[in-house]
Amino acid sequence: MINVAVTGAAGRMGRTLIQVLTEGDGMRLGAALERPGHDRVGADAGELAGLGHLGVPVSDDLTAVVDEFDTLIDFSVPESTLAALHVCCAASRRMVIGTTGFDTDGLAAIEAAASEIPIVMAPNMSVGVNVAFKLIEMAAAILGDDVDVEVIEAHHRDKVDAPSGTAVRIGEILAETLGRDLETDAVYDRHGINGPRDRRTIGFQSIRGGDLVGEHTVMFAGTGERIEITHRASSRSNFAFGAVRAVRWLQEKPPGLYDIQQVLGLG
Ligand SMILES: NC(=O)c1ccc[n+]([C@@H]2O[C@H](COP(=O)([O-])OP(=O)(O)OC[C@H]3O[C@@H](n4cnc5c(N)ncnc54)[C@H](OP(=O)(O)O)[C@@H]3O)[C@@H](O)[C@H]2O)c1
Repeated sequence: MINVAVTGAAGRMGRTLIQVLTEGDGMRLGAALERPGHDRVGADAGELAGLGHLGVPVSDDLTAVVDEFDTLIDFSVPESTLAALHVCCAASRRMVIGTTGFDTDGLAAIEAAASEIPIVMAPNMSVGVNVAFKLIEMAAAILGDDVDVEVIEAHHRDKVDAPSGTAVRIGEILAETLGRDLETDAVYDRHGINGPRDRRTIGFQSIRGGDLVGEHTVMFAGTGERIEITHRASSRSNFAFGAVRAVRWLQEKPPGLYDIQQVLGLG
């Protein structure tokens, strides 16, 4: 049985992770964490996730519960992740990091910690998205400069940034595979008289509306035909399933910084 702790337990991903962990085999929720002062500290983690009583109270002190888990799943905020790194290194605990938005110093701290403990970190833990990344790379390598490439993403109306981090990652994969530079070749906006399309460009379109969880399409448009590779998320559980898969994979690994592509055997 693998004992797992979840930070950001009251958040959207935290509650989804508690549900997925509790329903799966071979894992047990050992601890649930929230920031000090959060109104759900002390609440039962199962009740927080809508599951009924689990007997795991939400804690605001990772050090105090460090004996209750082997691996920490962290989908919270960078500040919380970086504080958890110290505790996990001191106690030799593994980490699966889904939190996004680290600055250069934060990324350097994670890399340094990975020389002491095994860490999986991925800005998108979805198994399906990562399979789509591989398919996009394959298609781009074969189609090359014979097609125009467009990335279209759609998310809920509350998402504040655009394009999505996943769309940017898709852009990086396309640029690397096609020998282009995202800095100069990405086009994020078209309006008015733009002239004919330059084949080297990688176009991005962002749609925002309603409660869309997240959709990404890459269109490879050639003459007389086009290929579209699409991933659609219908709930946040896809990210949680990927994180749980990473926890299982990490158990036999030495210290190091791994990504989800390695977990899935795609890297
Ligand atoms: N890698 C992936 O596949 C993936 C997928 C989805 C989301 N994410 C990322 O995961 C993170 C969380 O996303 P979300 O949608 O779940 O956000 P969210 O609903 O805002 O949840 C974040 C939770 O972390 C809590 N928190 C803040 N400071 C904390 C601390 N010091 N210790 C413990 N908990 C703390 C927040 O509490 P308060 O609200 O009270 O501050 C909140 O409950 C984001 O960085 C997001 O980009 C990654």
